[in-house]
Amino acid sequence: MLGFGKKEFVVQKAAPEDYGALADLHALSFARGWSTSELEGLAGQPSVTILSARLVGKPKLAPVAFNIIRQTEFEAEILSIAVDTTYRRAGLGGQLMREAILHLQADRVGTLILEVDATNVPAVTMYQKLGFETVGNRPGYYASDSQSSNANRATALVMRLELA
Ligand SMILES: CC(C)(COP(=O)(O)OP(=O)(O)OC[C@H]1O[C@@H](n2cnc3c(N)ncnc32)[C@H](O)[C@@H]1OP(=O)(O)O)[C@@H](O)C(=O)NCCC(=O)NCCS
Repeated sequence: MLGFGKKEFVVQKAAPEDYGALADLHALSFARGWSTSELEGLAGQPSVTILSARLVGKPKLAPVAFNIIRQTEFEAEILSIAVDTTYRRAGLGGQLMREAILHLQADRVGTLILEVDATNVPAVTMYQKLGFETVGNRPGYYASDSQSSNANRATALVMRLELA
């Protein structure tokens, strides 16, 4: 367990029995969903951490959000993050990001990067609020295998946060 955040939600490392629900949540959030087996494959990589969030006091209910992070010794990347539509704008995305940042700082990882659809206002605004800066863009990035919520959007922003 990585700790408690706001009182309404508890953030934990996802358990294998959560992967199916997280795949459903991913499919609802992105143009190309990741399957349960893809999540299992990611979770099996030592460099990958999958955080999930549940309502406090409801351990048997499905998780309502996730944050998937890959880290090396010096740098980490947000691979995917999503919050169930019912629970958006309640601070949970920010909470999941802060949990990841604390975890990475404890591991002395210096930099956190991510790619985000330039038109994804909720996500870009959340990252800016956390201190991320845009360091590049990748036109055409989302044309095929999309981690965007809208497959027709083409440009990805590359954003970076210094953790030290
Ligand atoms: C992006 C996402 C994870 C944000 O999760 P969330 O729990 O709603 O975010 P929070 O409530 O923690 O919001 C944090 C800040 O982000 C910004 N923000 C969030 N949603 C916003 C919106 N719809 N419009 C404008 N700003 C928004 C605000 O600055 C907000 O702080 P505030 O509420 O104090 O103003 C969520 O919208 C989501 O799951 N989107 C679909 C998947 C996705 O696009 N993932 C990102 C891929 S890179």
